[in-house]
Amino acid sequence: MAELSMSDLMFREGLMKGQRILITGGGTGLGKVMAEACLMLGAEVYICGRRGGVVEETAKQLTDAHGGKCTGLACDIRVPEAIHDMLDQVWADGPLTGLVNNAAGNFISRTEDLSPRGFDAIANIVFRGSFFVTLDCGKRWLADGNHASVVSILTTWVWHGGPFTVPSAMSKAGLNVMTQSLAVEWGNRGIRLNAIAPGPFPTEGAWARLSPGQSTEQAKADPTIPLNRTGEMRELANLAVYLLDPGSSYVNGQTIAIDGGGHLAGRGRADLASWGDAEWEQARNAIRGANEKDRAQRTV
Ligand code: HXC
Ligand code: NAP
Repeated sequence: MAELSMSDLMFREGLMKGQRILITGGGTGLGKVMAEACLMLGAEVYICGRRGGVVEETAKQLTDAHGGKCTGLACDIRVPEAIHDMLDQVWADGPLTGLVNNAAGNFISRTEDLSPRGFDAIANIVFRGSFFVTLDCGKRWLADGNHASVVSILTTWVWHGGPFTVPSAMSKAGLNVMTQSLAVEWGNRGIRLNAIAPGPFPTEGAWARLSPGQSTEQAKADPTIPLNRTGEMRELANLAVYLLDPGSSYVNGQTIAIDGGGHLAGRGRADLASWGDAEWEQARNAIRGANEKDRAQRTV
């Protein structure tokens, strides 16, 4: 289902006309709502994910609701050759003007319970995959002298750590440094890199793996956050549009928190320290169920 109407957005109609944006993991959750906002504001949008049917269905839902052009592409960003092929397809219609590194994998686990494959399952998507997409786009922009904006979706864990989500926190911290480094290296050639560090925004994908057993609806109120609530999708979408658009052209190398002030009040999953073996077993089984359901839909 489409989520937004124009009154959710703080920008004028047509703001992003002429822009061409790729959002990795844009078939679901936060990626989907950012795709929707860009489409509503006139951008041509590409979304990718491993579940071909999901990205195609999302592209259809969004264009049925808002018109415009949104293309769903099946791509596994863990595979550099697959990224290259996808970007050849995108560039055949013209260069991108913006990239959102949004695709991710995550699950809660005691770090001592992780296998090397468990670590790689996350790091290969978040750390390596996001870098490969940025690098392949960057080479194309630099070769042709195109200007562009890259926005990476991180977490506030890049500042205070992420207990029980260590591979994700480490990988996101790496992307934070990528953002700062390339902002300097590529800035003088018209390529800006910024990042967003969201606090909790209840999505099906994140909740199945980070708060198994709690519904996204239940998660809306949160007394541990200074604003007493989790984030709303339109709030994230507005910040992403701001950073993608040339209206923010002097903002470069920044990571902006959007978390109701949560990280200043000491966030992270330190609460999980009280769990025993039984709770972890139960969580692992619930997460496995979500992973198996998604894997059955993958087409690449
Ligand atoms: C310990 C686990 C585990 C768990 C999987 N593994 N789940 N280990 N605890 N709960 C281990 C497996 O045992 C296996 O290692 C290895 O990880 C690979 O598992 P697969 O299921 O084969 O992985 P794969 O099919 O590649 O799936 C990747 C995935 C999955 C990351 C595990 O969750 C996924 O596809 N996620 C995509 C969507 C997602 O995660 N969205 C949430 C993003 S939210 P062994 O050694 O046993 O073979 C987010 C929020 C951040 O990032 C901030 C919130 C505030
Ligand atoms: P989500 O709905 O599970 O989104 C993750 C997306 O990434 C999925 O569409 C998934 O699609 C895609 N993806 C995963 N691996 C991929 C791969 N190898 N290649 C291509 N696509 C891949 O979760 P979300 O909550 O919207 O998360 C979106 C982003 O926000 C993530 O970066 C997450 O870390 C970040 N974030 C979320 C929260 C939150 O509270 N929700 C907080 C902070 C940060 P496929 O499975 O089809 O590939």
